[in-house]
Amino acid sequence: MSEVFRSYLNSIRREFADKLLDIDLVGDDPYVFFEKWFEEAVGAEALDPYAMSLATVNDQNKPSLRTVYMRDISDKGIVFYTNYTSRKGSDLLKNPFVSSNFFWVELDRQIRFMGKVVKLSEAQSDEYFSHRPRESQIGAWASNQSHELRSREELIEAFKKIEAKYKNQTIPRPPFWGGFLIEPDEIEFWQGRPMRLHDRIVFTKDKGGKWLKKRIAP
Ligand SMILES: Cc1cc2nc3c(=O)[nH]c(=O)nc-3n(C[C@H](O)[C@H](O)[C@H](O)COP(=O)(O)O)c2cc1C
Repeated sequence: MSEVFRSYLNSIRREFADKLLDIDLVGDDPYVFFEKWFEEAVGAEALDPYAMSLATVNDQNKPSLRTVYMRDISDKGIVFYTNYTSRKGSDLLKNPFVSSNFFWVELDRQIRFMGKVVKLSEAQSDEYFSHRPRESQIGAWASNQSHELRSREELIEAFKKIEAKYKNQTIPRPPFWGGFLIEPDEIEFWQGRPMRLHDRIVFTKDKGGKWLKKRIAP
């Protein structure tokens, strides 16, 4: 790597704006607070505020990370959709523990979720799939996600084949594609502050399902 690149990485520093995060401010329900922050992210015109990093761990304890879209949320957790035979899908079928992370640079905010996933019911995945744009539905069938392709043409051919197969017909959900619900037992809110004295409030779920909160050091 060039010296210019490396010295840039060492010299770049950004001071965070002074928004604050306080133990009383977050209330008692992390989902209510998350919704408040999400609305503020939308208000601040954060690009793709519903995009989150999702970490999974395979059966050899090796982690991997990628971005997915949060497509639903309730007090049960966060929903995303994917191919069940992808790398993440096969990780999750063997090891359901995940961590996901939102970073909204426009507000110097990060929110981290930790917990376990469960597969959505077939009916829930069908319902979501039926409302996807047609090209996305065809793409779900055509892409053997995470597996080797000989060429881009192979993918385009697969897309065209599916398009022709379902011409003038409703496209059913592929059985290998659907949703996961992340059921978090820990949710952390992070607010960047000046002088690197950031605020962090973490919620953890106790055995009775009650959320407890505390401030932790940055
Ligand atoms: C902004 C963004 C959103 C994405 N959303 C999804 C998604 O909702 N579901 C999905 O399967 N992949 C999504 N992807 C692609 C994944 O990051 C990843 O490349 C793909 O799922 C394969 O990951 P895997 O091989 O680790 O299973 C998205 C990528 C980006 C950059």
